[in-house]
Amino acid sequence: MTLEKAKKLLSGYGQEHLLRYYDELDTAGQADLLAQIERIDFSLLDNLKADGDNTVKRGTFEPLGAVTIRDIEANSSEYKKLGLEAIKAGKTAAILLAGGQGTRLGFDKPKGMFNVGVTKELYIFECLINNLMKVVDEAGAWVPLCVMTSEKNNDDTVNFFKEKNYFGYNKDFVHFFVQDMAPSVDFSGKIYMESKSRISSSPNGNGGWYSSLVRSGLLDRLKADGVEWLNVFAVDNVLQQIADPLFIGAVIKSGSQSGGKVVAKAAPEERVGVLCLEDGMPSIVEYYEMTDEMITLRTDDGELAYKYGVILNYLFRTDKLEEINKLKMPVHIVDKKIPYMDENGSLIKPDKPNGHKFETLVLDMVHMHDSCIPYEVVRNREFAPIKNAEGVDSVVSARKLLEENGVEL
Ligand code: UTP
Repeated sequence: MTLEKAKKLLSGYGQEHLLRYYDELDTAGQADLLAQIERIDFSLLDNLKADGDNTVKRGTFEPLGAVTIRDIEANSSEYKKLGLEAIKAGKTAAILLAGGQGTRLGFDKPKGMFNVGVTKELYIFECLINNLMKVVDEAGAWVPLCVMTSEKNNDDTVNFFKEKNYFGYNKDFVHFFVQDMAPSVDFSGKIYMESKSRISSSPNGNGGWYSSLVRSGLLDRLKADGVEWLNVFAVDNVLQQIADPLFIGAVIKSGSQSGGKVVAKAAPEERVGVLCLEDGMPSIVEYYEMTDEMITLRTDDGELAYKYGVILNYLFRTDKLEEINKLKMPVHIVDKKIPYMDENGSLIKPDKPNGHKFETLVLDMVHMHDSCIPYEVVRNREFAPIKNAEGVDSVVSARKLLEENGVEL
């Protein structure tokens, strides 16, 4: 992008200050700054509402039943057969969302590089590969694994996989793609600078995975290879089954456009998003969006009506995703502590939120489907998320669950 073009673009969005120090930079710094401006999606700023109310508006919620553990047991051979057939025919790929910043864990490397081992090394990425290898062994076919990174953690992630020899996975089936960045703004909508040459930005949320997969050219490659289903999953759940033949088979059998793995909530107040219906379409209601009445509502047989929490493991069809891609995903505007350069050129690290970040979320894709099957998994067999160092959903709780499941630490 030329300086002239950048000036014109920025004045359209009232962001001319991003070029304030341009003349002080050397040639490489100037080129880098222009390249950053070119990569920024300024249209995100249009989502800031003049009245300051940036919440995404929701419709009317209703409960949605699941394919339960009991249903799965009763139909397991049929589901497994269908799922394995799809995997053997190369119709399924796995998409690992690993572009997050993992701030809660407080680990300065990509979260997948965290060692959960105790007496030996066992990295989060390694746990996931080990889980996927079970399916590869059973199906006798490699499942393509696409790893989404961000500009901030891509090099570390790619080098780690290489250094660890892909944890025994076939490297021809491992692909990396980088997600887009979104600018960080102050409360008046002005984009922050981190330094004279660096614009403050962060990964644009896990909903950015599809457009980034398309832009990387990987989706075309997958489709050319005959892939029809994408199993999208989070980096932090070390117990989850990936490309799970039973899950794939159950979704295929149901004729549904998509599926989401769910667990029965441990308690009505558990802080987990619930797969339900919103205005008659599948959707996920966040725990903080639920009214007390929804939280405690029971069915005639005494079960929680909003019972099934999502674990960020979804199955989507590539053809439906293409349709969805034409729609606009809701943009979530979240208040965060954003380090920034002040008027004197010093980097300030605020101790309370000082601005907004923009994110799209994979869970919003569910609502863009006509149907989504909640598929119940056994909680202590498949749900061990690592969000924090200690306490709930932590390294400590995940280690305990890994051991319970016979994983040597
Ligand atoms: P989380 O919502 O837990 O966010 O991500 P996080 O960034 O990993 O962690 P915190 O909130 O800063 O502690 C859920 C999943 O979505 C991925 C994460 O890597 C994780 O697998 N993710 C999140 C992305 O791939 N990109 C993003 O921009 C955000």
